[in-house]
Amino acid sequence: MYFPVNRPRRLRRTEALRSMVRETQLSVRNLIYPLFVTHGERVKDSIASMPGVYQMSVDEIVREAGECLGLGIAAVILFGLPAYKDEKGSSAYDQEEVLQQAVAALKRAYPELIVITDVCLCEYTSHGHCGLISGDDVENDTTLNLLSRTALSHARAGADIVAPSDMMDGRVEAIRSTLDEHGFSHIPILSYAVKYASAFYGPFRDAAGSVPQFGDRRSYQMDPANIREALKETEQDIAEGADMVIVKPAMAYMDVIRAVKENTNVPVAAYNVSGEYSMVKAAAQNGWIDEKRVVLEILTGIKRAGADLIITYFAKDAAMWLKEEKQ
Ligand code: PBG
Repeated sequence: MYFPVNRPRRLRRTEALRSMVRETQLSVRNLIYPLFVTHGERVKDSIASMPGVYQMSVDEIVREAGECLGLGIAAVILFGLPAYKDEKGSSAYDQEEVLQQAVAALKRAYPELIVITDVCLCEYTSHGHCGLISGDDVENDTTLNLLSRTALSHARAGADIVAPSDMMDGRVEAIRSTLDEHGFSHIPILSYAVKYASAFYGPFRDAAGSVPQFGDRRSYQMDPANIREALKETEQDIAEGADMVIVKPAMAYMDVIRAVKENTNVPVAAYNVSGEYSMVKAAAQNGWIDEKRVVLEILTGIKRAGADLIITYFAKDAAMWLKEEKQ
């Protein structure tokens, strides 16, 4: 039946009507806030390419997490800036390092906070790659043991969820069996199953000090042109024991989020990455866009595409705006 009988505008006339028929609800409960932990005390260093995001010492991280909880954000994901780097990324699985300290401090201060850790070697290796190097190659199988040790050290520190982001084949199985052997069979794995070799990670690599010293990550992260491969990666990670999967980045990959959602039955997270954040911030600072409306539109779009969870540097802002809207 067509116009004039059918007038879709009837249901858009007032906010009450619009909100009654709204199909997608963005909730603070679905947001995960990334934090960068660094050594020292009372350190809160800004990151030039990511306005509003900081490298923080453990005491500041604890304060920040308290603020998140106050806003209703239930989960944070931690990245470490270690005191030393070597070829084997030893500081990634050093129980005394700053990431492990931050996890322990957070769980002591806020037992109810969900503490997720990023499991990777790139922030901890002198060459900046996510695995061991042999010649020009990033070795797969020898890296698995180091990733497992890293995940185990995070679990020992008190992490609630570990999130491997390295893209080595077989790492979910390796981490699962190591955690199980050491009494951590209850700790879920949130796998970065679908992680593309993306230019949108640029600002993060400043924030985390993880720029590869040679070459790029295309031999292990996915080709942006592929979607069927995303399903293969997800299927494989779930078979190996992934409890939840991440699609990353988010905005240029909405179709991938949708496809992964339709083809799996685990919770799907999308990572709204650093470059996506910085572009919005830059435009907002220039007065070219309305930041609040643009951010809420992007996050709603990611959710509508199929993400159950969204990892985003906008989590705190979004939480505040969502709260305002409710009032
Ligand atoms: C790797 C890792 C990266 C991000 C999260 N985990 C960077 C990379 O693969 O180069 C990127 C996150 C972002 O851009 O916000 N440890």
